[in-house]
Amino acid sequence: MADNVTRRSFLRTVGTAAAASAIAGTAAQAQESPAAGRKIRILGLSCSPRKGKTTAAAVQVALEAAAKVSPDIETELIELAGLNIPVFDPVNPNKGDFAALEPKLADAAVAGFIIGTPVYFSGMSSLCKAFIDQCMVFRKNDFALKDKVAGVVAVGGVRNGGQELAIESVQAALMCQELIVVGDGSPTAHTGATVLNDGKDDISGDEFGLNTVRNLGRRVAEVAVRLAR
Ligand SMILES: Cc1cc2nc3c(=O)[nH]c(=O)nc-3n(C[C@H](O)[C@H](O)[C@H](O)COP(=O)(O)O)c2cc1C
Repeated sequence: MADNVTRRSFLRTVGTAAAASAIAGTAAQAQESPAAGRKIRILGLSCSPRKGKTTAAAVQVALEAAAKVSPDIETELIELAGLNIPVFDPVNPNKGDFAALEPKLADAAVAGFIIGTPVYFSGMSSLCKAFIDQCMVFRKNDFALKDKVAGVVAVGGVRNGGQELAIESVQAALMCQELIVVGDGSPTAHTGATVLNDGKDDISGDEFGLNTVRNLGRRVAEVAVRLAR
């Protein structure tokens, strides 16, 4: 019951925001349309071990903002929760479920990533780190992720709970892949999207944080479209 109420209030907030930004989105679409017919895929990756919780919700908001930038953009949310993403072991390599993700991530149609992590002790989750380490395969494969765009979302249980530290540690790893790292776009325009879980697994009341999430989604999409033109 409590979960339903939380979900309803979250969807209401997101729905209102979506309606408001749809008007602004029309102008952006006209400006940013890439070569006709070419689909630009933006993948959201939620690196929380808890499926469908606050990190996944924040990444979904970013994807919705990204999709408004151009009708040529298609988005997909991938949740790592429940997948077996093993700790990277160079001695006994084991990809687990990462093997199935690998071709999806390197697909030429994928132009951008929105990576979401919960804040765990002022850093990224261990699931996020395991995922990033498994991405070594792309670096070794002629930097297969080179020039795709990436932005980072971090959700913490405390305001100033280490969101920016978590974001920066993910960004540093992404730069090792020659990904093009962007922050949240204007008017917030800092390192990335910083979100507060209110303690009830609800982010709908964090209007500031949700704005950084929408600005991040839009910024990733704008740069991806520009590169695709
Ligand atoms: C092991 C652990 C460590 C955490 N450390 C922090 C922290 O340092 N700062 C913070 O703001 N929140 C911290 N949290 C709270 C989570 O970041 C927060 O609940 C987040 O919304 C969880 O994401 P999820 O809902 O997608 O699972 C921690 C949670 C766990 C389980």
